Amino acid sequence: MKKIMLSMLAAMCMLGLTGCGNTDFSSAPAETTVQQEVQTEQSAEDTEAEKPDEDKAVSGQTEKQPENPDTAESSGKDTIVVYFSATGTTMEVAERIANITNADLYEIIPAEPYSDADLDWNDDDSRTTIEMSDPDVRPAIDNDTVNLDSYSTVYIGYPIWWGDAPRIMSTFVEAHDFDGKTVIPFCTSGSSPIGRSVENLAAQAGSGNWLAGCRLDYGISDDDLTDWIKSMN
Ligand SMILES: Cc1cc2nc3c(=O)[nH]c(=O)nc-3n(C[C@H](O)[C@H](O)[C@H](O)COP(=O)(O)O)c2cc1C
Repeated sequence: MKKIMLSMLAAMCMLGLTGCGNTDFSSAPAETTVQQEVQTEQSAEDTEAEKPDEDKAVSGQTEKQPENPDTAESSGKDTIVVYFSATGTTMEVAERIANITNADLYEIIPAEPYSDADLDWNDDDSRTTIEMSDPDVRPAIDNDTVNLDSYSTVYIGYPIWWGDAPRIMSTFVEAHDFDGKTVIPFCTSGSSPIGRSVENLAAQAGSGNWLAGCRLDYGISDDDLTDWIKSMN
């Protein structure tokens, strides 16, 4: 199965997104809405080699847990940043987006935390390898009590796993109504673009004005992050 996944991953990396402009995914297929460029052809082995350091990628569940918003009362803010982060990278970017946009912040916490062994992409039998090989898997969320009703803009952040969004993101978007909301996806990854993850999540959500979103570099400058946010609005 790893060979199949690596082939998919290599194909994804050959269709890199650039620009990350404000593109509506809700009404047209990705191929016609996303600015794509053909990147230098690389082998599956190269792609795997581009993944982040083992130390970082398999360091376990996020240690810092932000306070999730009290869903019983509205904060009065019209933007929320929802994210899942297994090893803290996406969390940091999400926190920065929330600061810049004065948004609420909501972390999707798995009912069963991902261990280091679960995150081992080199193991054919690891939890994440098994989950990502089956598009119908829906890992349970521990704390999905967030009410999106009062928000008009929802940023959704996640790491790229095997070229796609982690299945727990599908659990989340299928459980919420995005009707009338602008949804802005973002991801972090070793190198893979946000790619098909946006199309997949938008289709699973079935509602909302999904923008093309963007892969954001860990360590992106404040200026570049602010520019990207402005380009989304
Ligand atoms: C199971 C697994 C699969 C991954 N697959 C990819 C991938 O397909 N492409 C890529 O560039 N990075 C991949 N990565 C690396 C993560 O996307 C990257 O480290 C990300 O920034 C981690 O975010 P987090 O710290 O918020 O969990 C993978 C990591 C894991 C644990």
